[in-house]
Parts: sequence; structure tokens; C-alpha cells
Amino acid sequence: MIKNLLITGGAGFIGSHFIKYILSVYPDYFVVNFDKLTYAGNLDNLREVENNPNYKFIQGDICDAKAVENTIEENSIDAIVNYAAETHVDRSIMYADDFLRTDILGVQVLLEATRKFNLKKMVQISTDEVYGAVESGYFTEESPFAPNSPYAASKAGGDLLCRAFFNTYQTPVVATHSCNVYGTHQYPEKVIPLFITNLLEGKKVPLYGDGLNVREWIHASDHCRAIDAILHKAAPGSVYNIGSGTEKQNIELTKEILALCGREEDMIEPVADRRGHDRRYAIDHSKIIRELGWKPEKIFTDGLRETVAWYKDNEWWWKKLKDGDYNEYYKKQYKERI
Ligand code: NAD
Ligand code: TYD
Repeated sequence: MIKNLLITGGAGFIGSHFIKYILSVYPDYFVVNFDKLTYAGNLDNLREVENNPNYKFIQGDICDAKAVENTIEENSIDAIVNYAAETHVDRSIMYADDFLRTDILGVQVLLEATRKFNLKKMVQISTDEVYGAVESGYFTEESPFAPNSPYAASKAGGDLLCRAFFNTYQTPVVATHSCNVYGTHQYPEKVIPLFITNLLEGKKVPLYGDGLNVREWIHASDHCRAIDAILHKAAPGSVYNIGSGTEKQNIELTKEILALCGREEDMIEPVADRRGHDRRYAIDHSKIIRELGWKPEKIFTDGLRETVAWYKDNEWWWKKLKDGDYNEYYKKQYKERI
């Protein structure tokens, strides 16, 4: 029985959705959110639960083994769900150091701790980007890794460590590979929140290259339910893809966002392509449906409409994130790519 859950990276986009989900679905669980609070970590994401007696926040780095071990001991943790990561491809192209540190060494620290304290399970949250790009067809859980960005390579390193720890020590870890996630509270550097907030500010949207790259999109609520199923039902050492089947070319996605924001196509600014830009990610998610009984529920057009509405209503949340270091980041990013 899992009762005391350590959620690492819980102040970020998907991790904060998962904490709120767990506290509402399992009111008897105790959740510790262990997060370094990098630029992407935001305690505003957890306002609804910050006074919940079953929730505790600890600021810490998953690469700091002592801090992780103390947290596990002091809170009688019995399982870890690891969302902590550096996550943005464009940033990884500018500087990969933090990606390798957190996404590989950090995972090793969590695996060691899972082993040392005989935890019941560790769930590693990862991405379909580890499989690389595919023109047609779908990657299964057996497909070889072929990462193309420093982000994808570092995530692949962490995922391979999960495999190695299971094979070497039978550490009860499960790795997950999800397609692109969208929803509320996503840092406005990723394409959907960036484009929505730019339009709300009256700015154009920078569409990379020819706009024909394809991504598969899943709503954060469906991702949370998938991780719930994996945490409670998946066998140690197993691997699951999490997908929705909703594939979109970036140009199609952009036009849907423009329509929801009441703007015309002249707000599209074609810009130079991302270096090494993967053309299409696509995964076969039949295994999780077959084995764990999960399936995606949110219709993309509904999810996108709700997401746009949330950004419209919550300028207080994103406006301050687009000031400060963010503008410096964008200036540097454009210089780097063009
Ligand atoms: P995010 O960037 O919004 O949040 C990451 C969180 O991790 C932040 O709160 C940050 O402060 C924290 N963090 C970073 N380094 C840390 C460290 N060393 N120690 C402790 N905390 C640290 O990311 P997200 O979009 O919520 O993604 C969460 C996970 O899901 C990541 O592992 C990512 O690779 C994976 N994933 C994301 C997507 C997506 O589309 N967002 C898709 C597939 C997989
Ligand atoms: P992103 O949200 O960065 O996710 P990922 O690269 O992990 O899939 O980008 C999604 C797609 O949108 C990707 O093909 C790159 C493209 N994109 C743009 O065209 N313009 C942008 O400003 C950004 C951030 C992304």
C-alpha cells in the first residue's frame, strides 16, 4: 500500500497537476513536493493545496543525495514519482549542463534512494523524444532510443539508468514515455502557452521553419490519470508509452490557437528553424490501454479552448514570468538559432 508519496519537481507544470490530482483522488495520501524551484518551478501552481495538512513543500535538489535521503526518512516515504527535470529543448541547445546533471545524475540519486530505503515504487516521468523522430508509423516501448537534442539525450540517459537499476538490483522502477503535454500552468516558453500569451499581449507568434513538424498532444489531466494507473498497477521494471493519438502539424495547431484568440494569420511570424528540429514524434500507446485499462479522455479542441480561456483569465500567473530573465533568454535564443 502506498501512502506517503514523494513527488519531485512538483512545482512545475505536470508535477503540480499531479499533486492536486492525488490530493483530490486519494485524500488519505500524504504528499511531499521536493523541488529545487528553478526558473520553471512555481509555487503559484500549488496555491489551492498549500494549506492542505496532507501536503508539504521542501525546497531541494534531486542531485543532493543527503537532502533526498533525509526527506525520505523524515516523511516515511514509500514511493517516488519523479517529475524533476530540465525540460525545454531550446534551452538544452544553448546549454546542456543542467540537463545532464538533473536528468541523469538526479535520476541516479533517486534510484539509489529507492534501493537504499526499499521503497515500493519509483515512477520516472519521461518523454517520447528519447525515441527520436519518425516520418510515419509509431514507436513502441521496444523501439530503440535515438535522441536528437541534448534534452532528449539526457532524458534517455535517466531512463536507461532505470532499466539498469531494475536489471541489476531489481529496483522497482517504471519508466514512462509521454507525448507533448498541454494544459493550464505551463511555463510560457513551450509552444502552446508561448503562442497564447504572445497573442494576448498583441505580439506575433514565432513559428519555426516550415511549420510542418508534427507533435502528438495529451491533456495534463489524462497524463495524471495515466501516472496514477502506472503508480498503482504497473509491474516493476516495466515501461509505458502515454499517448493520445491527437497529432497536429505546428501550423494547424497555430491556426487553432489564433482562432481561439480571435486573431488572423498575419500574426504568424515565420522564423529560422530550431537546430536539429525533430520532424515528427509518434508513439503507440496500446500497451497502457491493454494492460492497465487507462485511456485518454480529453478531446483536444475542448482542452485547447479551456487552456486559452485559463491564460486569458490568469494574466497574474504568466505576466511576471514573461518579464525579467525571460526576455534575456529569448534574445539569446534568437541569436543562437539565426
Ligand atoms: P517543468 O519544466 O514545468 O517543471 C520541472 C520542475 O522540476 C520545476 O518545478 C523545477 O523547479 C524542477 N526541477 C528542475 N531541476 C530540479 C532539480 N535538480 N531538483 C529538484 N527539482 C528540479 O516540466 P514539466 O513540463 O512539468 O515536465 C515534467 C516531466 O515530464 C519532465 O521529466 C519532462 O521531461 C516530462 N515530460 C514533459 C512533457 C511536456 O510536454 N511538458 C512531455 C513528456 C514528458
Ligand atoms: P515545444 O513546446 O518546445 O516542445 P517540444 O520541442 O518538446 O516538442 O515545441 C513544440 C513544437 O513547436 C516544436 O515542433 C517546436 C515548435 N515551436 C515553434 O514553432 N515556435 C516556438 O516558439 C516554440 C517554443 C516551439
